Amino acid sequence: MTAHIIDGKEIAAGLSQSVAAAVKRVTMAHGIEPGLAVVLVGDNPASEIYVRSKTAKTAAVNMRSLFYKLPATASEAELLDLIERLNQDPSVHGILVQLPLPPQIDQRKVIEAIAPLKDVDGFHPLTAGLLSTGLPGIVPCTPLACIMLAKKVHGSLAGLEAVVIGRSNIVGKPLAQLLLMENATVTIAHSKTQDLPDVSRRGDIVFAAVGQPEMVRGDWVKQGATVIDVGINRVQTGDGKSRIVGDVAYDEVAEVAGAITPVPGGVGPMTIACLMLNTLKAACAQNELPAPEVTA
Ligand code: GUN
Repeated sequence: MTAHIIDGKEIAAGLSQSVAAAVKRVTMAHGIEPGLAVVLVGDNPASEIYVRSKTAKTAAVNMRSLFYKLPATASEAELLDLIERLNQDPSVHGILVQLPLPPQIDQRKVIEAIAPLKDVDGFHPLTAGLLSTGLPGIVPCTPLACIMLAKKVHGSLAGLEAVVIGRSNIVGKPLAQLLLMENATVTIAHSKTQDLPDVSRRGDIVFAAVGQPEMVRGDWVKQGATVIDVGINRVQTGDGKSRIVGDVAYDEVAEVAGAITPVPGGVGPMTIACLMLNTLKAACAQNELPAPEVTA
């Protein structure tokens, strides 16, 4: 069996188009131009690339894109100062501080400094609490992207066995909450899980979010299962070059899976499209407008 390849790029393009149209409608009807402020501290090359694609996509969906770059030596106080200014600015509806941050800056303090209504990453503890209690709020972009891609394959996720490998606050935990809301039966596996391949083989859907290149092998996956790969890992290829691989050994797993996301071109582009959606939703919520009608 060769798996169906879930084309994250194409699905993300459809979502972005729908967001762009909804942004136009909100701007025309209410004079509100949704704005996203992206903050980068330092010169991490991977972060530079991610930030560039986020700011470019913001402009492409008709939103205002603001970019702030602080030096790697910036103090925590400088960053918190900038966040406070952005919190107070009514033309900024979303604030994203790219992670990781330099060691002199406490990541937790920074995340907690962002006004929850502008927390388009969905990393604030208040946002996480709303999600875990099933209350309306911003949903973190990568978990939302994973759910949307899985639903493209399965329609409903109700009753399916979902295995999430990885328990981070950013992906694994919120993804598990979303899967529960979709009525899936959820297992969260992690580095201390006994017989991880066996647990993974339970999954009708397997989500790999561990940050370990090609960890999920062909014999970890049940025949016909859907595999969603959240990993983005740069590995050396031996000829002095490097390439990007996911957390899934793609060639092996594609032989047994029913459907699989590629890396790149799977979850990554969909995550950015979800960031655009979150910014639009945040702009509507801050102006007491109903949630926008958007389709993926
Ligand atoms: N660094 C890697 N992924 C992310 C993300 O989704 N949001 C932020 N803020 N930083 C990141």
